[in-house]
Amino acid sequence: MTTPDFWIDRAEPDDEAAIEALLDTCFGADRLTKTSYRYRDAVAPVPELLLVARRAAGVIGTVRCWPIAIGSNFAPALLLGPLAVDPADRGRGIATALMRRALDLATGAGHNLVLLVGDAAFYRAFDFVPAAPFGISMPDEMPGRLLVKELLPRALDGVSGTITRWGWSRGAAERAA
Ligand SMILES: CC(C)(COP(=O)(O)OP(=O)(O)OC[C@H]1O[C@@H](n2cnc3c(N)ncnc32)[C@H](O)[C@@H]1OP(=O)(O)O)[C@@H](O)C(=O)NCCC(=O)NCCS
Repeated sequence: MTTPDFWIDRAEPDDEAAIEALLDTCFGADRLTKTSYRYRDAVAPVPELLLVARRAAGVIGTVRCWPIAIGSNFAPALLLGPLAVDPADRGRGIATALMRRALDLATGAGHNLVLLVGDAAFYRAFDFVPAAPFGISMPDEMPGRLLVKELLPRALDGVSGTITRWGWSRGAAERAA
């Protein structure tokens, strides 16, 4: 068995330019117009879940998570993504390593639910399932691409509704209190 020549690490502020360049390469420069970015606008990613895959030469993969809320009760959850690996390094288990570390860290930090927008065929390996049957939706996103994973058994009990951006939902909840 060969030892991987990459490792998973917390992203440092100095990695930001390399991460943005990698995301442009993987998703195109118009990526910020994607529906899921509405939930990242003016919201900080969860710092301990901001991960990169590195080798000595630099960043070759990245994943992040953002706080979101679900439904009229504003149930807290994470929105995972974007997940990206440099085209030259794909098929070597780097995305799998990033996903497993992010999910382990999220579980350890006490998060209950993770949502993402992506290919069910890829994320099934990490036990993500379609969110629509639970009554969870992201406006303007194709229902089949919104996926969810429970980090805690029964975390989805009583959780349904539309996803809202964290700052908006927190503010609305405070106003309603
Ligand atoms: C998707 C992506 C992150 C996978 O990165 P990677 O490091 O090559 O992934 P891994 O090596 O860990 O591959 C894990 C498995 O998923 C499979 N896979 C990759 N993309 C897939 C897809 N879209 N659908 C189904 N399976 C897929 C691989 O073939 C591999 O299968 P195997 O273990 O049976 O060989 C990478 O291709 C990428 O950056 N794509 C562009 C951005 C993107 O689409 N991101 C995900 C959506 S947010």
